[in-house]
Amino acid sequence: MNILLIGSGGREHALAQSLHASPSTTALYAFPGNPGMNGIATLVDSLSLNDSGTIIAFCKQHAIDLVVVGPEAPLVKGLADELRSHSIAVFGPSAKAARIESSKGFSKDLMKRHGIPTAGYEHFTKEQIHEAHAYIHDRALPIVVKADGLAAGKGVIIAETHDEAHAAIDEIFSGLFADAGSSIVIEDFLKGEEASVFAITDGQNSILLAPAQDHKRAKDGDLGKNTGGMGAYAPAPLVTEEIMNRVDNEIVRPMLKAMHEEGFPFVGCLFVGLMIDAGKPSVVEFNCRFGDPETQAVLSVFRGDLATLLHSAAIGALDASAMQSRAEGFACNVVMASGGYPDDYETGHKILGLDKISEIPQISVFHAGTKLLPDGSIITSGGRVLGICGLGATLSEAIQQAYIGVEYIHYQKRYFRTDIGKKGLHVTNP
Ligand code: AMP
Ligand code: GLY
Repeated sequence: MNILLIGSGGREHALAQSLHASPSTTALYAFPGNPGMNGIATLVDSLSLNDSGTIIAFCKQHAIDLVVVGPEAPLVKGLADELRSHSIAVFGPSAKAARIESSKGFSKDLMKRHGIPTAGYEHFTKEQIHEAHAYIHDRALPIVVKADGLAAGKGVIIAETHDEAHAAIDEIFSGLFADAGSSIVIEDFLKGEEASVFAITDGQNSILLAPAQDHKRAKDGDLGKNTGGMGAYAPAPLVTEEIMNRVDNEIVRPMLKAMHEEGFPFVGCLFVGLMIDAGKPSVVEFNCRFGDPETQAVLSVFRGDLATLLHSAAIGALDASAMQSRAEGFACNVVMASGGYPDDYETGHKILGLDKISEIPQISVFHAGTKLLPDGSIITSGGRVLGICGLGATLSEAIQQAYIGVEYIHYQKRYFRTDIGKKGLHVTNP
């Protein structure tokens, strides 16, 4: 089959690698793609996300059988709906279904209506600012204040004091997160360990990929600012088979049923952000797409034909047999960033060592923020630059391989966490 992949990050590079390796893939195009995809996909730069007509015309011209949409923004804007209205199979939800990510209030209300386990909450519009302040008065601390809309992971404040919570409410309503902050959700703090589980679904049936754990904070020991994710590993031993079954039965299936019943079935990858406390999973958030950087690890241990799996979901006939194994071995993906990220950082530094590392079979390199120059050299062009993914029979071997890989790569002001995966080594399951 002919596939068009949309996106340019590390997640999309991992998707490209697995789609390229799928026996059912004939041709793979990536728009806009990234320099790491050269050789596995044909990069296309002539399309525009602001003009879906260009994408539709490309699909017709190249007999595209499947469009895979990586990031949330085009889904939230309705790209999948537009493609479907032209009879193009697309892996990714409708704009209506994508609201589970673009509106936290919408997502929480849906969970509440259908009894899906999540933190207690209330939501408030800007006109209800006084009610919002009054609500937190007698709530237990810490308490979590969130901008309702998409704020690139930055619109969440965990307030340790009531004063901090009041300030967070004012800050969000003052317009700090633009439209994302026109309403807020205030929710109870959940304790436990976080994990991410991805469900591949055709709207009714679903299968779960390997559970993963992200590392959102910038510094070792989960300190520093929140980032897009500094590394991930899979499968996460924290999420036992028993917990996976609970996630499936108490969260994924009821959620898909709810969305189907309410008239906006979810087709694509349902990202379940979990908090696990004493063996009990609750939902922290849903996203409407694969996670980044979890996907790099999750797909590195996946065995099967990803193209067939995603295509079968897109056409409403999930073929679970396309996944032979959820996880063979372990993968640990260490993000190499530009020093200063997630605040200001420099770009344009030449990256050395990519050629040598490509010869090591236990290490994959995923590009995220890189640029190819006409002379063939590759420079840094973003906050998160590369993902170095180590593979191994055990988690500790995978971590070791990832950090061996990191030492091959050099550029000015490179920065990475040194403890990715460590949390998974000493899991004492409840
Ligand atoms: P979100 O954008 O909703 O995923 O929140 C970003 C991060 O904030 C999560 O990954 C958690 O680390 C943290 N967080 C969000 N909601 C809660 C909660 N109710 N309790 C504890 N931590 C939370
Ligand atoms: N890794 C978190 C996310 O993709 O939202």
